[in-house]
Amino acid sequence: MKNKNSHITSNPFAQTLLKWFAQNGRDLPWRATKDPYAIWLSEVILQQTRIVQGWEYWLKFMERFPQVKDLAAATEDEVLRLWQGLGYYSRARNLHQAAQQIVKLGRFPSTFDEIKRLKGVGDYTAAAIASIAFNLPVAVVDGNVYRVLARYFGISTPINSTEGKKEFAALAQSLLPIHAPADFNQAMMDFGAIQCKPVLASSATSPNTLQSLFAPLEGCAVCPLSDTCVAYRTSKVNQLPIKLLKVKVKTRRMIYIYIRCKGYIAIRRRASGDIWQGLWEPFLYKDDVDLPKADVATPPTAVFPDFPTEASHIASLKHILTHRIIYAHFYLQETDVRSPLPPEYIWIKEQDIDNYAIPRLIEMMLEKLHN
Ligand code: ADE
Repeated sequence: MKNKNSHITSNPFAQTLLKWFAQNGRDLPWRATKDPYAIWLSEVILQQTRIVQGWEYWLKFMERFPQVKDLAAATEDEVLRLWQGLGYYSRARNLHQAAQQIVKLGRFPSTFDEIKRLKGVGDYTAAAIASIAFNLPVAVVDGNVYRVLARYFGISTPINSTEGKKEFAALAQSLLPIHAPADFNQAMMDFGAIQCKPVLASSATSPNTLQSLFAPLEGCAVCPLSDTCVAYRTSKVNQLPIKLLKVKVKTRRMIYIYIRCKGYIAIRRRASGDIWQGLWEPFLYKDDVDLPKADVATPPTAVFPDFPTEASHIASLKHILTHRIIYAHFYLQETDVRSPLPPEYIWIKEQDIDNYAIPRLIEMMLEKLHN
């Protein structure tokens, strides 16, 4: 990550921000040191933890493990016990393993790429350590940085899109003054946390009104960057940054029994309010959402006491729809008497199935059956 615009040392945005930081930056204990170990520890703790809570843990860790060799020599159990209450315990396990990596290396890694090789260290943390501990010109991009840049430059590219991530990282990098990477990065984060705050999610007690949607934030009145802030000038402070809603992909297990009786099969039309509305399907024996992975992928066999023992397994398929992954299990049951089924099922001649619209998944299962 080389700063293409590093020759620009006097951009007004950075100048104003650095001045603001000198007057308003937070007095945090890990800012009083250049020890990369202490800085790394603070960044890992702060990855998913608020500063007030992380502060106490940082002090506890520094007291018990003053140097990286002390952390490396501890047992994982002890590290986990000290971490207790912070959550996301993989952070503690990675921290412990990374301490051992560092001891093995014989020194704290001192370039962005080298730092990134430490367990549990991604782009953000590597940039923070490289810039704060080693004065390397690498811009950090965290939630605060996205917000400040999206508002100040009026950027509506979603911050969680691939394009947005690239655009914001390049912009942050182009603004970074090469002589002050540590201060600039920490200034951006503090500015986002203290001055250019997120809008609180609206609730039933404070619904979104047109006024609230276009009103500036309280802090805008005293913001040193408001004169040149695009969002402020265009009343979009409350609407930026833009984040795409990610719909959680649900898993669903569907177990079908294709019941065939003397050339007739049982099908029903799917009701509204679900996938495949109005399409036809064979007997749906089970339909479960969000089961544990192992249960979703395994056929029923002995799991269900009422599952017909004479049904034979035809196929199991993984079928991907938007926002859903279906694990479908398809069985064939040949009978001489029509099984009693719920009333929405009808019996049709097997060869007449072509007259009915069926989902692609059922089509694939029929292909398996007939081939
Ligand atoms: N959040 C995480 N790391 C931070 C830092 N170094 N300064 C301000 N806020 C942070």
